[in-house]
Amino acid sequence: MKKIQSHIQSEDQFQARVESYQALMDIFNSRMNETIHRDDDSAVQKHLSRGKLTARTRINLLVDEQTPFLELSTLAAYGQYENQFPSAGIITGIGRIQGKTCLIIANDATVKGGTYIHETVKKHLRAQEIALQNHLPCVYLVDSGGIFLPEQARIFPDQDGFGRIFYNQSQMSALSIPQISIVMGSCTAGGAYVPAMSDETIIVKNQGTIFIGGPPLVKAATGEEVTAEELGGAFVHTTISGVADHLAEDEIDAIRICRNIFESIPQSEAQTFDPFPLEEPLYKAHELYGLAPIDLKKPIDILEIIARITDGSQFEHFKKDYGITLITGYARIMGFPVGIIANNGFLTSEASLKGAHFIEICNFRKIPLLFLQNITGFIVGKKYEHEGIARNGAKLIHAVATSVVPKITVVVGGSFGAGNYAMAGRAYNPNFLFMWPNAKIGVMGGQQAQDVLNSIKSKGTDQNNDLVTQFEQESSAYYSTSRLWDDGIIDPMDTRSVVGLAIAIASNKKTPLPKNGIYRM
Ligand code: COA
Repeated sequence: MKKIQSHIQSEDQFQARVESYQALMDIFNSRMNETIHRDDDSAVQKHLSRGKLTARTRINLLVDEQTPFLELSTLAAYGQYENQFPSAGIITGIGRIQGKTCLIIANDATVKGGTYIHETVKKHLRAQEIALQNHLPCVYLVDSGGIFLPEQARIFPDQDGFGRIFYNQSQMSALSIPQISIVMGSCTAGGAYVPAMSDETIIVKNQGTIFIGGPPLVKAATGEEVTAEELGGAFVHTTISGVADHLAEDEIDAIRICRNIFESIPQSEAQTFDPFPLEEPLYKAHELYGLAPIDLKKPIDILEIIARITDGSQFEHFKKDYGITLITGYARIMGFPVGIIANNGFLTSEASLKGAHFIEICNFRKIPLLFLQNITGFIVGKKYEHEGIARNGAKLIHAVATSVVPKITVVVGGSFGAGNYAMAGRAYNPNFLFMWPNAKIGVMGGQQAQDVLNSIKSKGTDQNNDLVTQFEQESSAYYSTSRLWDDGIIDPMDTRSVVGLAIAIASNKKTPLPKNGIYRM
């Protein structure tokens, strides 16, 4: 493979760009800090004073020592609900237990009693989707008051509502994806079905409770007066009802039992991706700050970004001089082989055909795909429509949709219009999708949207001058991550390790055979 030769060092403005990106990183770091470190919050103090561990501490104790935990969507619900639901009240991510890669979902009882708003449900379901796609056993650390009642209409009734959680558990269990619960607090109403639908359930003495209706509801419905412990405490469920299987003395004991259970869970039939010795890039990751596309009108050379992510900064082009606005080629990241598809301008017909051809090759060679999105869309205009840009774009979109190898998408700049689809946007089921803090996502830019609307409105109607501001707000990475359109915002410097981890996780499932042969279009 060839080494990429960087040219940026010679640019005078480069260092200034690196420094100015630091302002974006300061905002990102402070939002992450205020979300994760909440020791001064009275709900956290109350929780700790009850002798309970926080959700993140529980996870730290559950996973194998000195192994990474990839936390997802930390800033879910950020900027909504007056910031009363940090991380949407649920921590999700992927770690290792007894050497087995698994998905962990932990309610945060310090956030409105661990209750579910719309984003909590979405985050829980997304985590289960990741478990299904990558064949990961699931561990649920349950401590939740169920649905956040004032929001019930957005949570309860729809297909992707609260009930879907238990449907997914059944589906996964039927596919031999283990489902394990530890009840560390309340499991009320529908929430009772998380442990009840699990293959194996542990409950903590004098702390865990499971019931379909809590004591106040029982009193109102039947007049019966009963304490929570008598109704559905750990003793009841492990000796009388049989809803739980293991009685734990305390949380630490429960975590120990769960780790023991994992000894009997078989390793999944993994896909080996032909790993190579790890080699650091030749250029510093810190320089990505100066390369991140902030002003989307100014083109950047995506190879400069690739040079700071791939092993040894090596990259072998596929069709280097054809369809040059899309860079495709082979590389390695953290020792894993990877096929990179990266934007270097508009998507043209040639670029689309090139991308589709390259995806087919990677599917046959079982090479995971990394999409680096910085796309304003497909090229527009009479000439391009006549030559069939929609027909050729459809081939790329079809190839992305039917690709069978793992897909990892990182939005490093813009993600606009149908370019989002062609570059494995959320609707195209990438195994993971991450955003850089500067990234922007939307159907089009605000100014373009306003121009379009102005040109189609009948004369005399009000011009909507707020549209630019609205689009600007709605396209920010924070707006996206708050609504679970991605799996989290990452520091550009972590891109290489996050992508490496994502491929390692995806290798937990065998890659099926592709459906087509490789054909030239
Ligand atoms: N809907 C809306 N808000 C809820 C809620 C629910 N289901 N459950 C708890 N909350 C809120 C409380 O009002 C409180 O809000 P505040 O901080 O603004 O005052 C906060 O969450 C914490 O609740 P609190 O009762 O103080 O905490 P706790 O740790 O002592 O108890 C629960 C937590 C979950 C055991 C308890 O709140 C409870 O039993 N909730 C009702 C559960 C229920 O019946 N759910 C059925 C819905 S499916």
